[in-house]
Amino acid sequence: MQLPVSNVPQAIPARAEPGLGESSVARIGNTPLLRLERMTSDFPHVQLLGKAEWYNPGGSVKDRAASNIVSEGRRSGKFRPEQILLDATSGNTGIAYAMLGAAAHFPVTLCMPENVSIERKRILFAYGADIVYTPAADGSDGAIRAARELSGREPGKYFYADQYSNDANWRAHYDGTAEEIWRQTEGRITHFVAMLGTSGTFMGTARRLKELNGSIRCISLEPDAPFHGIEGAKHMASAMVPRIYDPSLADENLGITTEKAYAHAIRAARDEGLLIGISSGGALAGALEVASRLAKNREAVVVAILPDSGDKYLSERFWTESETRTDHQNSRRSASCEW
Ligand SMILES: Cc1ncc(COP(=O)(O)O)c(C=O)c1O
Repeated sequence: MQLPVSNVPQAIPARAEPGLGESSVARIGNTPLLRLERMTSDFPHVQLLGKAEWYNPGGSVKDRAASNIVSEGRRSGKFRPEQILLDATSGNTGIAYAMLGAAAHFPVTLCMPENVSIERKRILFAYGADIVYTPAADGSDGAIRAARELSGREPGKYFYADQYSNDANWRAHYDGTAEEIWRQTEGRITHFVAMLGTSGTFMGTARRLKELNGSIRCISLEPDAPFHGIEGAKHMASAMVPRIYDPSLADENLGITTEKAYAHAIRAARDEGLLIGISSGGALAGALEVASRLAKNREAVVVAILPDSGDKYLSERFWTESETRTDHQNSRRSASCEW
């Protein structure tokens, strides 16, 4: 069953007769919930489910927030037809805005740290967005400062979408992601984990899940150190804290090392056949930590948000430098030796 998608920008005039097929932006949301069975073999009473957000047309969870920000901006009149959409992004929101801008014919300018992966830069270029690079050392906060400065200098020229402060960000997950998870787990979800960036995914999803069942434990995850390799995630203690972030919503907040995030991305690829991104690896590391702390024989349904796939990180060295070989892979290897 398809949920109605109410947050899709409708900028292309309707045809006299509806055409065949569907628009790509109408495919935002309703992502699959994938079972990860091998990774939970040590915890037979735990079902680990990954919300596969790379099935969104722009390839990440950020399609949801970006499309809701655009349609809410249009609906409220804050995003006027002659304006350029401007925001700070570490990549995925930018890709989502750029895709929506190309599809609905509005210009997009993005402020972004210069060290984001080459794959992200190429995707943005392909969609035709304008990019303002900010120093790598200033991280995502440097990009935020640049966007504020640009919009302050020429306020009428830009609609500053400000995903860090925009309620349409978390609302996309309150109305969409949470309802989907509830339906896909038949209301049996016991634990929810997600990595924090703007915090929109965690805030909106956890807020709604707790309304649906107050006993669902919601665990937020963040990099364990200010300098880390988990693209898209924020170390809150050392960063500019997003206005939409309310730490009191989380039952617990866990720090994840970059090495653990890498190792779990590799495990997912080699044990489950899932090519996931680094923050998705971090989410699985957090989910398994939660599973390992549960009382033995306690039934649990743990849902982790997997924000994007691994294809945007294939130039990262950890895929090839890592010594990580899984048990499953080793057994396959020895099996092939015997042939
Ligand atoms: C790869 C990746 N993971 C996690 C996140 C965090 O999502 P949110 O901004 O909703 O907290 C982002 C945000 O851009 C991201 O790009």
